[in-house]
Amino acid sequence: MLKEFSKSILCIGAGYVGGPTMAMIAAKCPQYKITVVDIDRDRIHRWNSDSLPIFEPGLDKLIETARGRNLFFSTEIDVGIRDADIIFVAVNTPTKTFGQGAEKAADLQYLEKTSRQILAHSTSDKIIVEKSTVPVRTSNAMERILNGGKNNVRFDVLSNPEFLAEGTAIKDLENPDRVLIGSRETENGIKARKEIVDIYANWVPKEKILESNTWSAELSKLTANAFLAQRISSINAISALCEKTEADINEVAAAVGMDSRIGSKFLNASVGFGGSCFKKDILNLVYICQNYDLHEVADYWESVVKINEWQEKRFVRNMLSSMFNTIAGKKIVILGFAFKADTGDTRESPAMYIVRGLLEEHAQVVVCDPKALGNARNDLKDVPGDLLAFEEDPYEATEGAHAIAILTEWEEYKNLDYERLLSSMVHPSFVFDGRNILDHQRLFEMGFNVYSIGRSPLKHFR
Ligand code: NAD
Ligand code: UGA
Repeated sequence: MLKEFSKSILCIGAGYVGGPTMAMIAAKCPQYKITVVDIDRDRIHRWNSDSLPIFEPGLDKLIETARGRNLFFSTEIDVGIRDADIIFVAVNTPTKTFGQGAEKAADLQYLEKTSRQILAHSTSDKIIVEKSTVPVRTSNAMERILNGGKNNVRFDVLSNPEFLAEGTAIKDLENPDRVLIGSRETENGIKARKEIVDIYANWVPKEKILESNTWSAELSKLTANAFLAQRISSINAISALCEKTEADINEVAAAVGMDSRIGSKFLNASVGFGGSCFKKDILNLVYICQNYDLHEVADYWESVVKINEWQEKRFVRNMLSSMFNTIAGKKIVILGFAFKADTGDTRESPAMYIVRGLLEEHAQVVVCDPKALGNARNDLKDVPGDLLAFEEDPYEATEGAHAIAILTEWEEYKNLDYERLLSSMVHPSFVFDGRNILDHQRLFEMGFNVYSIGRSPLKHFR
């Protein structure tokens, strides 16, 4: 370690979590040297360039502050391990696609490979911090791998799950609701925990830094995601009932959310939740419960995912039935492919399922998105070019279209010139607002037939 730095921190995994979290620590703690490593050379190359591998508001400024000063991106994993006092592990933990637990359990192979690599290249004691989201008791397995090997090197394995949301990652990291640090409740465990508390204490108020045992920290992360996703499935379930009864989901959400015990956040009815984590983490929780023979608990949480899949399918079914039960050959414009606004990330985006549903009905689909077209092209690369097109400009995309579907709540889609869009479309023209972000009455008065989530449709025919 270079003399001028008081600590050397390594992060293994330079993705949506590793990059931004380490950029924040580096920006807030110039006294530490932070290195972020990855096996993906291209990703590291982009972290070292002006074209960062992920889009996140405020990230470029943070990187500019710290990169080359005390923040470094590298592919030299072995050297990084050797030189580090503290190693954060932020590798991916996707859903297993094979063997036992396929489609539910977490695939821990990247985490295990990382543990073995840490063991192989460590020549001094280290604190290992699980940043990745993992099944409860995973750190036990990491400890066994790490401490079952060499003599003379000790590893303390801690859990410090990350709660940032994409699109607001920098804000979330700068001002988190809480930071959670779990360790073994032994003398060494508590000493290691204190070292991690000290990092965050550079900018996070002490009362927001929670300490717990390792298992509570691991399970709290899965539980937080399950609760968040459950709220969306709850409001989406009620949205379907609103559509049948002329109740309005926005009014219901406002009334329910004003109960301070319930709270108003995360009650936006939508086309469904996406993102790399909600589904994967709930299925992981379901799998864990099944393994402990807690089948009722498993079924309860699995229903959150089932409602979400149903909501996506329901959206396609509504589009089809509203457009006279045929969309074959009709041009449909998708406004927004990212799983939420302010990110280019499309992992598990509801838009992907909806586009595929529309293509099954032989619609001609045009996908627009201000930041996610690169990922969208990749996600849909198996679809023949004569059925699917990509276009950044909504006005170009909409020429000759029968319908527009809003699937991501991008600010710029709220402010389009809808009169202009309507004038270039085939009539009758349809808007399907999967995010309830538009002024539906105004669009209806313009001449659109308007369908939204959890509200009665506004249409010019019976
Ligand atoms: P990601 O896929 O964007 O990044 C993971 C990175 O790890 C990849 O670049 C991959 O190449 C690298 N990697 C895998 N194996 C490696 C190895 N052996 N050595 C070096 N690098 C390796 O994933 P992400 O979105 O950053 O998520 C990482 C973890 O954080 C997951 O467990 C996820 O559940 C959790 N998490 C994600 C978010 C989010 O918003 N994306 C938020 C909180 C928690
Ligand atoms: C989510 C959690 O919010 C983070 O705390 C967590 O760290 C992260 O998962 C993770 O573990 O990966 P993220 O998926 O990035 O963050 O974004 P969210 O803001 O939670 O949105 C998830 C999905 O739910 C999006 O598709 C969003 O559009 C949808 N959503 C959200 C709704 O449909 N309605 C809402 O009211 C809120």
